[in-house]
Amino acid sequence: MDHDRLVQGLREVVGKDHVLTDPDLRSSYEIDWLRQYIDDTPCVVRPHTAAEVAGVLRVCGEVGVGVVPQGGNTGLVGGSTPRRGAVLLSMRRFTDLGQVDREAHQVTVGAGVTIEQLQQHARAVGLDFAVDWGARSSATVGGAVNTDAGGSRVVRLGTMRQQVLGVQAVLADGSLIDELGGLPKNTAGPSLSHLLVGSEGTLAVVTAVRLRLVPWFRETAASLVACDSLMHAVAMLPRLRQLSSLDAVEVLLPEALQVACKHLGVAPPIDPSSAGAFVMIDCAAHTDPGDELADFLASEQGVMAVGAQREQLFLIRDHVTIAIGALGKPLKLDVAVPVMNLDRLVRAVRSGIREHAPGARLIVFGHLAEGNLHVNVLDAGDAGPLLKDLILMTAIELGGTISAEHGIGVAKVDWLERLHGPAHVAALRAIKQALDPQGLLNPGVLLP
Ligand code: LAC
Ligand code: ZN
Repeated sequence: MDHDRLVQGLREVVGKDHVLTDPDLRSSYEIDWLRQYIDDTPCVVRPHTAAEVAGVLRVCGEVGVGVVPQGGNTGLVGGSTPRRGAVLLSMRRFTDLGQVDREAHQVTVGAGVTIEQLQQHARAVGLDFAVDWGARSSATVGGAVNTDAGGSRVVRLGTMRQQVLGVQAVLADGSLIDELGGLPKNTAGPSLSHLLVGSEGTLAVVTAVRLRLVPWFRETAASLVACDSLMHAVAMLPRLRQLSSLDAVEVLLPEALQVACKHLGVAPPIDPSSAGAFVMIDCAAHTDPGDELADFLASEQGVMAVGAQREQLFLIRDHVTIAIGALGKPLKLDVAVPVMNLDRLVRAVRSGIREHAPGARLIVFGHLAEGNLHVNVLDAGDAGPLLKDLILMTAIELGGTISAEHGIGVAKVDWLERLHGPAHVAALRAIKQALDPQGLLNPGVLLP
């Protein structure tokens, strides 16, 4: 690779100030927030228009160097940190917040807008954005589209895919796709925008997104429920889902509750050792949902609930990943299975740990209604790869997936075919080959 030609070419596209070659300036882009993935990039480039992105791709194509797009760098699977000498394409300058279309409940925003900025922008006119999770202040819309992010409100409002009406994106050859028109009904052929949802930066660089907005439910009520087992927690779902105000159903196994509270230095709302699983129920509506939630809890057999402060519950929930990260570098998996199989999944994980890494510490939490568990194993030692195989294989055997919301990244590339089968992966490869024949975009991610 001709380094000088690369840097000079990129400077001509975005200006000297937006090509970072100094190691000190690059460093925060070269490592993920949990310090699991780290590598050098020749430079960080920070365009702020789609035309500049096209120029960056042209220069990189000419020099023959890959491009790793990065938003808020909150990923957990190594999908947006540099590798293989690729240029790091930071999308954080795409911060445009379009005017909210109140008639349509839609808005167009730049890929570098954070989830929190989008939520605040929508709330300023009495609306809200549907997808929400702990990293909201850093995670960007572009990253969320590329991973089909989920979070806590999927039970009610769906994942990112259900919010995306269309995207503007630059293809590897520099051409532009523009589906920002926002028509809720548009059956003129397949949606290219939706092909890009979950494509992890491997097919195009998303620069702007047209998004659905939702009503802002200002009245809320939350409760933490102690269940004797995970099965018991799942058994609440049929009735829980009947609540018209149900907004989130999160689950924390005792270790997760304990670890997060300890990290925050707060007393757990319920003694973690007193139950087998804790369910955080959040209700939101235009009028106080407290009665609806209280009626549910009163009629549910054998549960102990505490009506702790909602802010406190969310603070605890949002800090689990950070708390685990402060304890070490865990084996971190994001699996989902049909809810009826959740208990079997956790049992299999526990027995695998007992057999192969008895000293390891298992911390499990996630999103109950989607059967989505974040399985974290600390101190797995040499058994890490074996446990990873065991956990992913078990999820597949139970009818589940190897990634519910974090994506494949580099962490699970070897697993995609085992999940989807050869025909599916061959089709994905054919699409990749057609759209990015040079393999410029996010090399090494998603497809091996
Ligand atoms: C969460 C992130 C880790 O659920 O997905 O907290
Ligand atoms: Zn999650």
